[in-house]
Amino acid sequence: MSANLAEAQVIEALSHVIEPELHKDLVTLKMVRDVRIDDEVVKFTIVLTTPACPMKDEIESTARAAVMALPGVKDVEVTFYSSVPSDPRLVGKMDIGVKNAVAVASGKGGVGKSTIAVNLAVSLANNGASVSLLDADIYGPNVPMMMGVNERPHSLNNRIQPVMGHGVKLMSMGFLIDEGAPVIWRGPMIHSALRQFLGEVDWGDPDYLVVDLPPGTGDASLSLAQSLSLTGVVIITTPQDVALADVSKSIAMFDQLEVPVLGVVENMSYFTCEHCGQRTDIFGHGGGQAMAERMKVPFLGEVPLDTVVRAGGDSGNPVVVSNPEAPAAQAIAQIASKVAATISVRDLLG
Ligand SMILES: Nc1ncnc2c1ncn2[C@@H]1O[C@H](COP(=O)(O)OP(=O)(O)O)[C@@H](O)[C@H]1O
Ligand SMILES: [Mg+2]
Repeated sequence: MSANLAEAQVIEALSHVIEPELHKDLVTLKMVRDVRIDDEVVKFTIVLTTPACPMKDEIESTARAAVMALPGVKDVEVTFYSSVPSDPRLVGKMDIGVKNAVAVASGKGGVGKSTIAVNLAVSLANNGASVSLLDADIYGPNVPMMMGVNERPHSLNNRIQPVMGHGVKLMSMGFLIDEGAPVIWRGPMIHSALRQFLGEVDWGDPDYLVVDLPPGTGDASLSLAQSLSLTGVVIITTPQDVALADVSKSIAMFDQLEVPVLGVVENMSYFTCEHCGQRTDIFGHGGGQAMAERMKVPFLGEVPLDTVVRAGGDSGNPVVVSNPEAPAAQAIAQIASKVAATISVRDLLG
């Protein structure tokens, strides 16, 4: 029996061992590495998604039993290795042909990250730039709704074609996830899915790729920053202290990843009564600017609370299109110009 054939048999046997949490087999999940056969002793490595994998013992015993059952196997040695993509130097950047990739991030959810990402992309496109928009928030992919896109992308020459909305080419990680299905992907799975996805989409050659990241400093943000050479990140916060505390963590993460912070946006900054014109700082005011100063990053502007912003999101007509004269729309358009200017200055300075 040739060594190769025997290795193939080991892999075949392991392709029947199911990872108890992810319900797929170890081979499909690419968890089996370095199969070697030394004198009837089979050795292989199982790559775990986290060193603290609660299923480790169970996986080990089922894998061992499956291989021991092969004819001529005297013993099995399983080595574990955990692949946590945390060191940016270990993960290569991909070249997907976009001129500038701008991520939109926030310390927590519900602060208007997607709203700003969508309106930023549409503003840049309105100003004549070619823009693609990636909804990378796998936990809450609602950019298609905000862009009024119901259509799912199709494939052409094996490349996924983004869907057009308001002059922007849109792609959502949500298109990959069955509606209503819980997202149980753990770190390395998110990482490989994201990279595969980035590589398979026909992004064209846009001036800007705007990316709506998931909130916080989780795996998906980390993976994206490791996979793309990000031009910079725009951080969205609301004025109150809790949101701001989360923002400093975000900034620290991007600093560590060497992603330039293009600036901070204070969203839901204040409310102007449409009847009496009185301004109310519902969540306090000025925290974004103070924090930007403290963290030594640029402050890009304040976006007021306005029902037209929410209505624009719900109806798929971003406020910069539906109500371009509204103060909130103008604030976002100005932020878009600032972002574009910051990037062009950076490009000029090389
Ligand atoms: N400036 C604003 N004025 C009024 N509503 C807003 C504003 N910004 C966001 N919203 C609304 O708040 C909700 C949360 O915003 P969203 O962009 O989905 O947040 P995130 O992506 O951070 O979770 C949405 O219903 C959105 O329409
Ligand atoms: Mg969102």
